[in-house]
Amino acid sequence: MQEIRIERTQHPRPKPVDESKLGFGNIFSDHMFLMNYDEGQGWHDPRIVPYGPIELEPSAMCLHYGQSVFEGMKAYRTKDNRILLFRPEKNMARLNVSNDRLCIPLIDEEFAKEAIAKLVDVDRDWVPHAEGASLYIRPFIIGIDPHVGVHPAHHLLFVVICSPSGAYYPEGLDPVRIYVEKNYVRAVRGGMGFTKTAGNYAASLKAQDEAEKQHYTQVLWLDGVERKYIEEVGTMNVFFKIGDEVVTPELQGSILSGITRMSAIELMRSWGMNVSERRISIQEVADASKEGRLEEAFGTGTAAVISPIGELKWGDDIMKINDGKIGPLSQKLYDTLTGIQWGNLPDPMGWTYEVK
Ligand code: COI
Repeated sequence: MQEIRIERTQHPRPKPVDESKLGFGNIFSDHMFLMNYDEGQGWHDPRIVPYGPIELEPSAMCLHYGQSVFEGMKAYRTKDNRILLFRPEKNMARLNVSNDRLCIPLIDEEFAKEAIAKLVDVDRDWVPHAEGASLYIRPFIIGIDPHVGVHPAHHLLFVVICSPSGAYYPEGLDPVRIYVEKNYVRAVRGGMGFTKTAGNYAASLKAQDEAEKQHYTQVLWLDGVERKYIEEVGTMNVFFKIGDEVVTPELQGSILSGITRMSAIELMRSWGMNVSERRISIQEVADASKEGRLEEAFGTGTAAVISPIGELKWGDDIMKINDGKIGPLSQKLYDTLTGIQWGNLPDPMGWTYEVK
């Protein structure tokens, strides 16, 4: 394994005093990880250096054609001051799935996981102590060739930054209101919907902005071809409890393979619940709602954890779910996942990874 050079800051910045007011992604820790790729040389010069601006030429390819991928992970502080990551190997595997789709040279997953753990170790004092707060970790890779022709980059930069953060949504665990998008689409099969690439999020902004103007928190995306089948919600995967079946859209190429999604499915199956990954139309959800069979809906994501959905608006159809209150399944999933992540519950599946 390559050695990681560490240059510690001479000017540590003050840590946030009131961790209940962190918000999400607003401040950054003292250090960052950098590693370069140059064709012929491969990934090289891994280093942890003081957090700060990175220099790019205005012609850097990522700025023009969006050859850029990222991940979202968290580090959690346990009551006995250990620092845990949650299934970091899954993030590294997904990063390589995104890399492959965007013609970005693959990374050594084990090395990248260790590099992230090292960065978190260097900045371990930045992992919040307050309940519900964690250190959000954002690895990303960008093509940096100074060149405006369209082709895969030959020079890239892998960066990891860390942000002490609280809940992603101001609502916290209070149910969010979701707007079902009928006009714009996020992704189509054959495109990049299954990757974590910047452009997918750029594609979502207009609809998100319009939904917010109508006081909805997020957009629920329908498939890009027939605009019938449910895909995902803003920054989350989505689940519906209809009678005794829990349904989430199958991974068919335009949906992100969420690690919280995967963990929620594995947990519910371990509880003996009937979980289906299948096509589900918005009409089916609307019918279930009318017939009183739509018991709960919730989103899953690293940033959002479990986010109960209290209302769905599909055109004129307003579906209130569980009276706009958090349901027992959403609560149980939230309690179990966060219990494992913060080391307050046993971890029988071996999902946590201690930073040492
Ligand atoms: C995450 O849940 O980690 C994400 O990457 C969503 C993000 C765009 C805030």
